[in-house]
Amino acid sequence: MTDLLLKNKKNVNLKGKDFLTLAELSSEEILFLLDEANQLKQMQKSGIPHPYLNGKVLGMIFEKSSTRTRVSFEVGMYQLGGQALFLSNKDIQLGRGETIHDTAKVLSRYVDGLMIRTFSHSTVEEFAEHATVPVINGLTDLHHPTQVMADLQTIYEHKGKLQGLKMCFIGDGNNNMTHSLIEGAVKVGMDIAVASPEGYMPNKEIVKNAQAVANYTGSTIQIGVDPVEMIQDADVVVTDVFTSMGLEDEAEERLKIFAPYQVNEELCNYAKEDYIFLHCLPAHREEEVTSSIIDGPHSVVFDEAENRLHAQKAILKNLL
Ligand code: CP
Ligand code: NVA
Repeated sequence: MTDLLLKNKKNVNLKGKDFLTLAELSSEEILFLLDEANQLKQMQKSGIPHPYLNGKVLGMIFEKSSTRTRVSFEVGMYQLGGQALFLSNKDIQLGRGETIHDTAKVLSRYVDGLMIRTFSHSTVEEFAEHATVPVINGLTDLHHPTQVMADLQTIYEHKGKLQGLKMCFIGDGNNNMTHSLIEGAVKVGMDIAVASPEGYMPNKEIVKNAQAVANYTGSTIQIGVDPVEMIQDADVVVTDVFTSMGLEDEAEERLKIFAPYQVNEELCNYAKEDYIFLHCLPAHREEEVTSSIIDGPHSVVFDEAENRLHAQKAILKNLL
């Protein structure tokens, strides 16, 4: 990647660490991992073997559905010379009430790392507390940090920089994606603007802590209810589903509340002419985004999905 990223390669050692939120990583660590992700991508594209995790095993606990996270972690471990175990909570004793404490301790005796997708963020924190191997957050209700690593990699690839860009998130401000985007943006010096309806604003504590980082990195954080105001001159436009996993009971109500927050041609006219559009997927066309945008010339959603693989391989290589 650029000098900026390469400069940050020194003094980063993530061996044995957990990966729960982007707030817990330094700017240097994030840039280092992005550079590693880029290198691993080049190696994979050129057919150069890179078995850094030969013989290592990742346990993957899923309490929610997944396509990208499951497949990219599994394929990533395979490409790194290791293996991944898919552990559905429907099948393991955790789903029948075995404690997180015991599950974390037992699995740590078998595997070299654990990836967990769950509901409450405190569940991954509890796993991390009791596991003796690194724990990676594969999505909680509050954060989705591995997705945002892929997002940053994608933005970098398309824009050639991160610092100084403006990212705008339109939609549910109080979800995992928004929180991780805010935390990630301020670490890399990007400005972030969030447009959400009243009552669906980002978590105050997360914003407060991100603002402290922003004061240091020079980022700005804007939060408001008006999508037109927030999207002005954005380089990167991002949205996510109106109803995240676990909130299905609210789906009908949310459809109405979030209707004015659809990312469509009219709204995107206010972004920069060369803006890129990101969505972590799965998407609901004609709800949070029109087909004309997600399938249009500004959309980079499939590069973004692909980069899950490369960004996570960088995380796995360095933690395990
Ligand atoms: N973006 C994402 O995390 O996708 P999955 O739910 O398919 O893993
Ligand atoms: N916010 C979405 C992200 C899915 C990858 C959800 O939690 O369902």
